[in-house]
Amino acid sequence: MNKIYDDLMKMVQSIRRITDFIPEVALVLGSGLGSFVEESQMQVFHRISYQDIPGFPVSTVSGHAGELIFGKLGTTNVVCMKGRVHYYEGYTMQQVVTPIRLMKCLGAKYLFLTNAAGGVNQSFHPGDFMLITDHISCFVPSPLIGLHDERLGTRFPDMSQVYHPGLCQYIAKIAKEQSISLQRGIYTQLTGPQYETPAEIHMLRLLGTDAVGMSTVCEATAARHMGFLVAGISLITNMASGVIQGAKLSHEEVKETALHSQEKLTKLLREIIFHIHDETTWERV
Ligand code: HPA
Repeated sequence: MNKIYDDLMKMVQSIRRITDFIPEVALVLGSGLGSFVEESQMQVFHRISYQDIPGFPVSTVSGHAGELIFGKLGTTNVVCMKGRVHYYEGYTMQQVVTPIRLMKCLGAKYLFLTNAAGGVNQSFHPGDFMLITDHISCFVPSPLIGLHDERLGTRFPDMSQVYHPGLCQYIAKIAKEQSISLQRGIYTQLTGPQYETPAEIHMLRLLGTDAVGMSTVCEATAARHMGFLVAGISLITNMASGVIQGAKLSHEEVKETALHSQEKLTKLLREIIFHIHDETTWERV
């Protein structure tokens, strides 16, 4: 037993004092994707600032406002995390994944993770979307390290299919209908906050990485541990270090590309979430 579960229950209680809303879908909005709620015309019921939830980690990075937003897209109940915290901010991995665990405790079944990432695969271009098919987690500590508590999940969880194949197939189908092209690939999380060196990108390519970033893998790991059905989409905001000779990376460039692609990603996510009940077969794939 550990304190994590008890702390989560306190957070659930503090939210339940405000709303009895039960989300079905949990959505994490990454860098620069913050206007999803407005752009998707989601019907919003509640907005709760991270700082008003006791024990909830609050982001310190510019472009990562912190709010939990409860609303409806069509008939689907959604909780959106507008802004996330990162390991490089100094939080422990357990703190970083607290919001994911909380959204599961609130009742969510599906988790959609989005992020900004650097393109390691040389056939990618800035502005591309990549459906995450698998990940490499071993460059960052596991969020599951620590005293075991069966209430959160099993001690040695299987990670052979973190990203639900049926959900991936469903997303690919919606993207095709929307004429949005989707790359597919493997995402690797590094700690950051520094961007990678060309040598590190070379190593990641040899390992089979298609996109690199500083989030998502720890969240997907904690989510699978708790039984979430997980999907992830990366927005390739830039080509990773060394892919384009002489190019330097900046957070400004990442935010700018994210801003440009926001509309398309919003449209894709909106359709995915809106129609999630229409699809009766994918869960069995
Ligand atoms: N590297 C790591 N994280 C990132 C990058 C990158 O090139 N772009 C956006 N997030």
